Amino acid sequence: MDLRVNGERLWQSLMTMAEIGATAKGGVNRQTLTDDDRRGRDLFRRWCEDAGLAVTIDQMGSMFGHRRGRDADRPPVVLGSHLDSQPTGGKFDGALGVLAALEVVRTLNDHRTLTEAPLEVVNWTNEEGVRFPPAMVASGVFAGVFDLAFGLSRTDHDGRTLGAELQRIGYAGKQKVGHRPLGALLELHIEQGPILEAEGQRIGVVTGGQGTRWYDGEVIGAESHAGPTPMEARRDALRATAALLGEVYQIAHDQAPDGRATVGELRAWPGSRNTVPGRVAFTIDMRHPDGSVMDAMDHALREAFERAQGHAPGLEFHLHEIWYAPPVTFDPACVDAVRQAAAGLGLSSRDIVSGAGHDAVYMARVVPTAMIFVPCRDGISHNEAEYASPQACEDGANVLLHAALARANA
Ligand code: GLV
Ligand code: MN
Ligand code: MN
Repeated sequence: MDLRVNGERLWQSLMTMAEIGATAKGGVNRQTLTDDDRRGRDLFRRWCEDAGLAVTIDQMGSMFGHRRGRDADRPPVVLGSHLDSQPTGGKFDGALGVLAALEVVRTLNDHRTLTEAPLEVVNWTNEEGVRFPPAMVASGVFAGVFDLAFGLSRTDHDGRTLGAELQRIGYAGKQKVGHRPLGALLELHIEQGPILEAEGQRIGVVTGGQGTRWYDGEVIGAESHAGPTPMEARRDALRATAALLGEVYQIAHDQAPDGRATVGELRAWPGSRNTVPGRVAFTIDMRHPDGSVMDAMDHALREAFERAQGHAPGLEFHLHEIWYAPPVTFDPACVDAVRQAAAGLGLSSRDIVSGAGHDAVYMARVVPTAMIFVPCRDGISHNEAEYASPQACEDGANVLLHAALARANA
């Protein structure tokens, strides 16, 4: 328990990475497979190589830095997260998990310490799912949730595919996705919620994650003139959407305190201030930790769309489920390794369920998995103001180090 990461070096790496895609408000816009993502990947690759890691890239563009173990026959213990960000993202969501994993390797290098099992540092492609829904698609292919063709054919609003963008930025790797044994997977992440900070806990021992369902919604009416057309004669797709969205939010309120509903994208056509919108498309993100409640929320949503259709027969209401990641429970032994690591380091901790999606959620299907959370200021994330203190980052990296040692040397 005497090994400790270099917190200063970890912080410097986080701040250097955050210069790539930096926004005016102090955040990061490094959306997946953009030129800035390529720059972030190039820097990460260089850092991995400097740390003596052998870097491979799989067909989904996920990057793995391999550090040999004393026993080459043992499956590697994998540490990491993602370097892609939200459009108004922060410096820590994803980057902390990747760079803390690298810091673990650098620390072991400093102390010339070899683990029994090899270690791998991973940067998963497209965790956020902003450009290419769904989220966690590369870890999903790795875990066999999606096939490779599905992953590569995800398409952004401009019609570009994930596969073509991987080619464009030079990260369409050759390594087959998945189909190899891993010993364990550990992901460090900021909590992205308020609990740890409010309770003054330094470490969250993540026992699992809540479920997420993504939908595309569409309402079709008819364009008409904003002036002469009487209000009652309109088939206004946006007005109908506005009424429907009240019901969508109510579904989450009806499942308080854990239910969540978010409409994060909404587009109206033709997009003219003096034309009544004839078409609206929007996204819905619904979450809850309990799968049966998730299903009840899904049912309520479908009923809300049907009711809206009944009230407005002149319009069309379409609801299309595009993704469901069910609630997940992490591996008890891996979770315990995190708990023991925190205790051994004298860091206060509590068990916590993740409200956000993470690659670990899919990887838990194929490898013993756990996550470590550290507090972030005011629980704010997916926001340029997102902040985790140097101490919190260092705490998390130390827990990652010791949980990894426990798994790799067991
Ligand atoms: C990932 O950031 C998510 O949507 O939870
Ligand atoms: Mn994340
Ligand atoms: Mn995120």
